[in-house]
Amino acid sequence: MNSTKRTHLLSSLLIFINTTVLSRFSLANDTLTQGQSIKDGQTLLSSSKIFDLGFFSPGNSTSRYLGVYYHNISTQSVVWVANRGTPITNSGGILTLTSSGNLLLLNDQGNLLWSTKSNPIVSNTSVTARILDSGELVIGSGDGTVIWSSFDHPTDTFLPGMKVSLDRKTGTRTVFRAWKSPNDPSKGKYSLGLDLSGSGQIFIWKGRRPRWRSGQWDGTRFIGSTMRPLYLYGFKPIVDNSQNSMYFTFTQFNSTPLRFVLQWDGVENTSILVEQTKDWRSVWVQPVNECETYGKCRDYGICSSDRVPICSCLRGFEPRFSEEYNSGNWSGGCVRKNPLQCELVNSTNRSNKNITGGNGQGDGFYKLQAVKVPDLADWQSTVVNGEDCRSSCLKNCSCKAYSYVSGIGCLFWGPNLIDIYQFPQGSGSDLYIKVAGSELGHKSKIWRTIVIICASGISLLIICCILLCWKFNAQIKGWLKKGDKQSSQAGSLRSMREVRLGFSGQAELEEGREGKDTELPLFSFDTIAIATSNFDSVNKLGEGGFGDVYKGKLPGGREVAVKRLSRSSGQGQEEFKNEMILIAKLQHRNLVRLLGCCIQEEEKMLIYEYMPNKSLDAFLFDPTRQPSLDWSKRFNIIEGIARGLVYLHRDSRLRIVHRDLKASNILLDEDMNPKISDFGMARIFGSDQNQLNTNRVVGTLFHKIPNIVNIVGFAWKLWEKDRATEMIDPIIIDSHSVPQVLRCIQIALLCIQDRANDRPDMPSVVLALGSENPVLPMPKPPLFTMEESPNETLAMANRNESYSVNDVTITEILGR
Ligand SMILES: *[C@@H]1O[C@H](CO)[C@@H](O)[C@H](O)[C@H]1NC(C)=O
Ligand SMILES: *[C@@H]1O[C@H](CO)[C@@H](O)[C@H](O)[C@H]1NC(C)=O
Ligand SMILES: *[C@@H]1O[C@H](CO)[C@@H](O)[C@H](O)[C@H]1NC(C)=O
Ligand SMILES: *[C@@H]1O[C@H](CO)[C@@H](O)[C@H](O)[C@H]1NC(C)=O
Ligand SMILES: *[C@@H]1O[C@H](CO)[C@@H](O)[C@H](O)[C@H]1NC(C)=O
Ligand SMILES: *[C@@H]1O[C@H](CO)[C@@H](O)[C@H](O)[C@H]1NC(C)=O
Ligand SMILES: *[C@@H]1O[C@H](CO)[C@@H](O)[C@H](O)[C@H]1NC(C)=O
Ligand SMILES: *[C@@H]1O[C@H](CO)[C@@H](O)[C@H](O)[C@H]1NC(C)=O
Ligand SMILES: *[C@@H]1O[C@H](CO)[C@@H](O)[C@H](O)[C@H]1NC(C)=O
Ligand SMILES: *[C@@H]1O[C@H](CO)[C@@H](O)[C@H](O)[C@H]1NC(C)=O
Repeated sequence: MNSTKRTHLLSSLLIFINTTVLSRFSLANDTLTQGQSIKDGQTLLSSSKIFDLGFFSPGNSTSRYLGVYYHNISTQSVVWVANRGTPITNSGGILTLTSSGNLLLLNDQGNLLWSTKSNPIVSNTSVTARILDSGELVIGSGDGTVIWSSFDHPTDTFLPGMKVSLDRKTGTRTVFRAWKSPNDPSKGKYSLGLDLSGSGQIFIWKGRRPRWRSGQWDGTRFIGSTMRPLYLYGFKPIVDNSQNSMYFTFTQFNSTPLRFVLQWDGVENTSILVEQTKDWRSVWVQPVNECETYGKCRDYGICSSDRVPICSCLRGFEPRFSEEYNSGNWSGGCVRKNPLQCELVNSTNRSNKNITGGNGQGDGFYKLQAVKVPDLADWQSTVVNGEDCRSSCLKNCSCKAYSYVSGIGCLFWGPNLIDIYQFPQGSGSDLYIKVAGSELGHKSKIWRTIVIICASGISLLIICCILLCWKFNAQIKGWLKKGDKQSSQAGSLRSMREVRLGFSGQAELEEGREGKDTELPLFSFDTIAIATSNFDSVNKLGEGGFGDVYKGKLPGGREVAVKRLSRSSGQGQEEFKNEMILIAKLQHRNLVRLLGCCIQEEEKMLIYEYMPNKSLDAFLFDPTRQPSLDWSKRFNIIEGIARGLVYLHRDSRLRIVHRDLKASNILLDEDMNPKISDFGMARIFGSDQNQLNTNRVVGTLFHKIPNIVNIVGFAWKLWEKDRATEMIDPIIIDSHSVPQVLRCIQIALLCIQDRANDRPDMPSVVLALGSENPVLPMPKPPLFTMEESPNETLAMANRNESYSVNDVTITEILGR
């Protein structure tokens, strides 16, 4: 009776506080002071406006919860929930910081739903509760002591600055617990944390049973996962041996928000925030396939996702229950077919330890390549190399397998081998499994037989071929001769055409090279990250329409430009790779060479040759560098671009339309030869080119001229009035070049005719550029460019250094 009265009193008091305090309480505040409170609908906002503390309803639920979530993001992204199991049924919730430094969450009945239970403060300095830009809610006193932190009581999200810790002395650890469902943040059945045994592995449990494990940390990554190297995200373990405790933590990477979430379905999902869309992009998820489920194939089984059934026994082992082998029921796991020699000796006669370890009599090892090594490893701290690791495992009868992992050292496995996964590609470690020598000998005998049969088969085949060839010798010679003649005819036709077009023949030569089947080198994410010092902004060369470009130095010292694609191509990895292989085969003096690419999960990167002189726009729009491009250099650049386009449009196998040609996509080598970059992107990303970065329009130059729409309108008006020479910048012109400049202007105007039939194709453009007196039609007035459309035309580029010519003026026109 008494207590209910008291709570009612408390709640009416709080409501009183609410109305008085909140009225003068600015919403853009990150701090609650003693006695202050916020009610549903009000939030605390971290100082850089990254996180909110406030009330929310998850999913389609109508219940209210207090939590921390990202401010102003497309999808609700809650990182922490206070009253997980005690929802508020209406919007009457109130959060208050008491004078003793406790945060209380009450409903409109005055019932306590949640509190921090923080220790009452002894000092009488003021206490505040504050939401930080890291997402941490802290209660602290004025002298800087932290009384309580939400980071010590995580829910399902691991944020930079948080710790996944394990204290083996006290048996306490940080456990992240998933929501029950997307609509219910109460504790679900999945949890994540460090392995209590101290193996240093991260586990996901379903209830108390392991569901997934990460494998050990090797200094850069967890060896049992296909995750990209986590050290790039500042991820690192901190071990305190004296306290028998350790924790993993990570720091903010590149200021890109990154979070690890244990989803309600038991999947760990790591995502980064994409600034442009204000939404999350998943960078990896675990576990993603059945084989990554802990112990899928039980003892001595191995799981491969590309086999049916996915489970099989390790070599030298057989299913415990043979009838289960085909039913896919792996409850029995596998057992050893032939006992190990050392076990045999031990059991029959302890004094007789005749262990030699060679093939035949003793025991031996065979190698499993690139696997997730089993759980329950014993780290042999005293063994420092692979050879010793092998020999000490051989001598130790309890050692059933070993692995020497760089970054970790020698690992032994004792009682059984569980949770082995054959990784699809690349990652993983080599595992050596101990079996009776008879297993190894037996196998090699089979192999020998197979080899002998194959060898005799092949020799028979060769003999047959020789006989056949000899018989039809004359006929084959005839075919060969005919083929020769045809190809040489084709060649001469081709070269005649090149001569007619005034070609140097370069394209033809280069194309010959294209025919060779060059495989596209694939670089690992690590290599590129190291080459660019983790995509350091110092190495950033610029931003293209498809992503940022970084300068990098490969291990051999070769300088490269790395384009990190920010958009997803809509193609699968395999498709993307095939497309890149095709594009890498396009080689021409006026195209930037694609040296390779990097495809790793969500990351797609293209590695190009590095161009020391950067791009054409850096010269054209920089008044101090403009003079260094005299007319002859400019003409050379114009011709080069045209030749590159002829190659793309006509001579390459792929017949590529660029669709995003602009000054910033023309790179210059050390001799100022132009090279087109970003070709082939339209094929990968589809033909829509509504990218922000290509829509910037002509710069300040045209501000001064009244009644002029844009560069095309401007050029046309002068051309029409026979004043085209006024267009020429005095610093680049001498009297000899005037006719050549006028010819270029005329060709340019022809290239932007409204009707496609009025425009010359690229080979004719190259021809016209190259001849002294080409017969060119007179251009007709370009209609669409003459219409006034103020919002499209004199718009300034948003950054002064990157003026770029609108793609209307160049791209569409050339790229029919
Ligand atoms: C937040 O509120 C406290 C107390 O009302 C005040 O001292 C502080 O200046 C406010 N901060 C901001 C950023 O408005
Ligand atoms: C919310 O959605 C889930 C499915 O997403 C559905 O099962 C559930 O009934 C819904 N709850 C309410 C209250 O609408
Ligand atoms: C919220 O995001 C939108 C676009 O995503 C932006 O225009 C707006 O300024 C943002 N508001 C705040 C307060 O950050
Ligand atoms: C509280 O502070 C006042 C002055 O700041 C001091 O005189 C008093 O002893 C303090 N009380 C406690 C319990 O520390
Ligand atoms: C991972 O999270 C992202 C965004 O947070 C989501 O779009 C994606 O579906 C999630 N992946 C899985 C496998 O649940
Ligand atoms: C698998 O086999 C074991 C032993 O025969 C049996 O107890 C179990 O029920 C079977 N499980 C399934 C899913 O069939
Ligand atoms: C060897 O024999 C001893 C005693 O008989 C037994 O304790 C030990 O477990 C055996 N070792 C193995 C590997 O079987
Ligand atoms: C062990 O082997 C020796 C000879 O090799 C034999 O004399 C002895 O009886 C054996 N002991 C056992 C327990 O089998
Ligand atoms: C032990 O090994 C040696 C050499 O491999 C062999 O000569 C000897 O017969 C073996 N002894 C027994 C008891 O197997
Ligand atoms: C022998 O191997 C077992 C199993 O891995 C291991 O626990 C033990 O420490 C090893 N003993 C020696 C002496 O290396």
